[in-house]
Amino acid sequence: MPSFFADVELVPGDPILGLTEAYNADTRATKVNLGVGIYYDEGGRIPVLKAVQQVERALAEQSKPRGYLPIDGMPDYTRATRELLFGKDSPLIAEGRAATTQTVGGSGALRVGAGLLKKTLPLGRIAISNPSWENHRAVFGAVGFEVVDYTYFDNATHCLDFDGMLADLGKLEAGTVVLLHACCHNPTGADLSPEQWKRVIALLHERNLFPFIDMAYQGFDKGIDEDALAIRLLAESGIRNFVVASSYSKSFSLYGERIGAFTVVSDNADESKRVQSQIKRLIRANYSSPATHGAALVAGVLNSTELRAQWEDELGQMRTRIHALRAGLVEKLAAKGAPEFGFIQQQAGMFSYSGLSKPQVDRLRDEFGIYAVGTGRICVAALSTKSLDYVAEAVATVAKD
Ligand code: LMR
Repeated sequence: MPSFFADVELVPGDPILGLTEAYNADTRATKVNLGVGIYYDEGGRIPVLKAVQQVERALAEQSKPRGYLPIDGMPDYTRATRELLFGKDSPLIAEGRAATTQTVGGSGALRVGAGLLKKTLPLGRIAISNPSWENHRAVFGAVGFEVVDYTYFDNATHCLDFDGMLADLGKLEAGTVVLLHACCHNPTGADLSPEQWKRVIALLHERNLFPFIDMAYQGFDKGIDEDALAIRLLAESGIRNFVVASSYSKSFSLYGERIGAFTVVSDNADESKRVQSQIKRLIRANYSSPATHGAALVAGVLNSTELRAQWEDELGQMRTRIHALRAGLVEKLAAKGAPEFGFIQQQAGMFSYSGLSKPQVDRLRDEFGIYAVGTGRICVAALSTKSLDYVAEAVATVAKD
């Protein structure tokens, strides 16, 4: 009998995670992985935060039984997450309008959200920024959404194209879901100012568009509350419904724990209960219920005054170091005859849309062992003071052609 899989097609590797596979197979000592969005410390390691280590030690001592978590996750975790997103005293929380579900990373949150909205909204259409995170289109496409895009970035100026964005959002049909990055836009690093957020939110309200906020980097640009500005503004805007996908991969350096959350804002507590029942059904038919360890770590930190303060401090150190790496890269590039990269310092978060073309990115990999996403996105947070010089030299070299 022929194999059932005989005609299965080989599809290309993932544009981001596939790079890590290629990087791992590279034997050059000078190699640098600026592909995937991971923060590395000066020693080139993914940090294990001290606040997390303390909870981990306490958990190991207790050696608690591992029963199943509720379908929508650990209550201590989901409550703390909600408070981080909206602020502890949010009226929306007090009114029982916000429900949070523990998910398998931020990607899992997007997928759960996509499933919910495909089932409950009349129009299966979502608008994502051009460009956006490589996986957004795939996640929403996988549940049957029609994915369209809106103007976001001006490649010539390396800045947000706000007029273009407003014009495109203004043309969307009522009921379209609009995916917005709360901060540290992936891949461009170009964010909206508070004034621009107000204008976008007013437009969403006026045109009855459905906001879907993706916040994978809370605390990586300015701070916990500052980076949640879009969510806080939406909460007080009068818009009755919106959703948030959030993640602790970056802010807690817990990438492999796959720990994220999906939060839905409903019109009232009763509606919230009904929506939550739908989410639980979706999850039960998918992975049944989430894993314990990552949630226990995050809950342990966020629910302790002392550990929370320590975490904020460690997060602040990562943030400050990324800003310094940006400045260092720009300075070194200028010194090597490439002052045109000054815009990198204006961008926020882990990434920079370097403006390098695909052939230039290929040269970086082939000649220097430096891995970047084909679109020219580089992860600034993966640099170190040791690799800065080498990377700047290589980028300046390929940029000349
Ligand atoms: C990235 O954009 O590199 C990260 O969010 C990791 C991922 O899953 O792609």
